[in-house]
Amino acid sequence: MQIVTTIRETRQIIHNASREGKTIGFVPTMGSLHEGHLSLIRRAKTETGFVVVSIFVNPTQFGKDEDFETYPRNLDRDAALSESAGADLIFCPDAGEMYPKGFQTYVEVAEITTGLCGAARPGHFKGVTTVVAKLFNIVKPHKAYFGQKDAQQAAVIEHMVRDLDMDLDIVRCPIVREPDGLAMSSRNVYLSARERNAAVVLSQSLFQAEEMIRQGIRDASEIRQYIASVIQKEPLAQIGYVEVVNAVSLKKVDFIAGQILIALAAKFGNTNLIDNLCIEV
Ligand code: PAJ
Repeated sequence: MQIVTTIRETRQIIHNASREGKTIGFVPTMGSLHEGHLSLIRRAKTETGFVVVSIFVNPTQFGKDEDFETYPRNLDRDAALSESAGADLIFCPDAGEMYPKGFQTYVEVAEITTGLCGAARPGHFKGVTTVVAKLFNIVKPHKAYFGQKDAQQAAVIEHMVRDLDMDLDIVRCPIVREPDGLAMSSRNVYLSARERNAAVVLSQSLFQAEEMIRQGIRDASEIRQYIASVIQKEPLAQIGYVEVVNAVSLKKVDFIAGQILIALAAKFGNTNLIDNLCIEV
């Protein structure tokens, strides 16, 4: 496995792999890798011939009061984990390589970035789509792998690819959870022991809601209120949002039918956690 920091070298290595007839798989990340990321890399390894992992804590997707400075970084550990999961190349540029002086071109997906996480994090998805579009142009993957953990992000990327006629497949991979149900996240390391224990309430509330839907409840506001009431019983949790939306358009639904997404965000101390459940009725 090679580790490179420049766009030029990355292009050269990928060009050589393509010339050997290998299909290119791509897993964009911000590092601090856990089993969730590794599941994407392993999946890419089974479906493509040359797996590129990018590790770049992208400044443009962080709000000015968010955790860009403190976001966990550990390249040596990430490189070893990526290699063990099957990565062939790590691209880990610095901010100057991705956003040189004079940079002024952004990619913005409109409607579906306005709700859920987009409402609380203005500019966040513009940063995500801009960096992912750049990374797609650099890596030119046949397939790129995204986690359902960030369901809105995956939907936004799929929209961008469709709207801008980008020539690749987006593969969504299931949420990897801790044994107690907490969705794995690089931000879980911020949680104190008490917050970590409390955070399990998020997945529990979703699983209970799923059970209610399986038993026939179709009123979205009843489901929303139930989830909120479960989370509110946990004193360390502060709800950001609980929404029931169409899984494709991300528009709110009143009645549960078809493919729906139950998405939520809550803060534990200063740490914002998200989780979701996709359900077909
Ligand atoms: P990051 O948070 O590092 O996540 C990289 C990829 O791993 C995303 O597709 C995310 O959905 C996936 N992922 C994270 N936790 C997961 C879990 N528990 N189960 C399954 N997949 C999981 O998302 C980003 O980085 C950035 O926004 C990025 C796309 C790299 C652009 O900067």
